[in-house]
Amino acid sequence: MEKHASRIAVNSGSHQYTVEIGHGILESAGAWLSNSHSQKDGSVSIISNKKVFDLYGATVEQSLTAAGFKTSKFLMEDGEEYKNFESFLQALEFLGEKGTRRTDAVLALGGGVVGDLAGFAASVYLRGVPFLSIPTTFLSMIDASVGGKTAVNTSFGKNTVGTFHQPKGVLIDVKTLATLDERELLAGFFEAIKHGAVGGPGILTSIEGFLSDFPVNGFSGRFNNSEFVGRLEKVVFEQVAFKAEIVSGDEKEDTSRNDAKSRKILNFGHTVGHSLEKVTNYRYFKHGEAVAYGMLAAAEISKRLDILDKNSLNLLKRVVSTARTLPDARSIEIQEIINSFSSDKKLLSEELQWVLLGGIGKPKIVSSLEIPEPIIFESLQDVLHR
Ligand SMILES: NC(=O)c1ccc[n+]([C@@H]2O[C@H](COP(=O)([O-])OP(=O)(O)OC[C@H]3O[C@@H](n4cnc5c(N)ncnc54)[C@H](O)[C@@H]3O)[C@@H](O)[C@H]2O)c1
Ligand SMILES: [Zn+2]
Repeated sequence: MEKHASRIAVNSGSHQYTVEIGHGILESAGAWLSNSHSQKDGSVSIISNKKVFDLYGATVEQSLTAAGFKTSKFLMEDGEEYKNFESFLQALEFLGEKGTRRTDAVLALGGGVVGDLAGFAASVYLRGVPFLSIPTTFLSMIDASVGGKTAVNTSFGKNTVGTFHQPKGVLIDVKTLATLDERELLAGFFEAIKHGAVGGPGILTSIEGFLSDFPVNGFSGRFNNSEFVGRLEKVVFEQVAFKAEIVSGDEKEDTSRNDAKSRKILNFGHTVGHSLEKVTNYRYFKHGEAVAYGMLAAAEISKRLDILDKNSLNLLKRVVSTARTLPDARSIEIQEIINSFSSDKKLLSEELQWVLLGGIGKPKIVSSLEIPEPIIFESLQDVLHR
């Protein structure tokens, strides 16, 4: 299969970078890094985990070495619970021990956990060193790797400490998805559906068409099918282009903006989604699954407030169900979810803002003060206790 890559330029306030998307392009990581990073040789510290590095580390290292880079690696433990200060400090110590200089690069190879942690370490080590990333989960390809948010989780919440540090380049090889667990894949597809819901009918129906032609079930067996690969690359391209457009216009998620292009719209489905994850101790749902319920809840609320029409609500429901049945949520107390998102916001002394829908591709940011609690309660009941 031809190894050609398509490119998307992302403009951030501070600089411009390119996201390269292709199939089997991991082998050309060295050339990509030379193009993206002003230093043509020097050291590259790869931050990954054992699982991903065992699969793809050798290919990346060989390519970087052939292009003249010196590589070293730091492998963090695998899992969201390791996206914490301890791993962050270990990563910094590793960079220090290797004598990493300001012109050297940090390269993340892995999913969103690795990307968030590596980006954070790169952003503060010597007050910031060049950061590049090779995302290897569907979620990190279409969401986490674009936009420059870095973070760790703390005792006071998920992603509560971090920075904005834009990458110098992102390389997406869709072939790496062949080894990804189907439930992980699906969790990413729900975030893609979220982009469609707030981005517009074109993006939403494209995802729906892809998922109905190529269900997540049996995904890994399709990589010899050139039609499948082409369509997958196209979906990733559309998704990255949409995320890039939003983050370019609102790099740091300006708190005062409430318009339909503000970065906040990417939080569609996340108010309820985060609470669902929290009340189930982050063990029951994949993040994307919780977001799927959250999107349905926000759409139900929008419908009950008469800002969303029935057809759009049904379209969203249909696309979510094309992806897969969600884990049963009937045993979760509705009031517990409501208490959870209310108390979260009190802690941050912020007024709770919902991302609702006035139609597909028409997000509306609405203060919780404008939504009667019974509407929230009934909508949650409808979606979770069907
Ligand atoms: N920075 C952002 O803008 C942003 C946006 C969305 C999410 N996030 C963060 O991303 C994280 C979630 O990322 P994720 O969903 O990628 O999870 P993850 O990084 O935990 O990866 C999921 C699992 O898949 C494994 N894996 C990764 N690539 C693989 C491959 N190609 N083959 C086989 N296994 C592979 C990982 O080792 C892990 O076990 C969360 O911490 C979230 O907060 C950040
Ligand atoms: Zn999310």
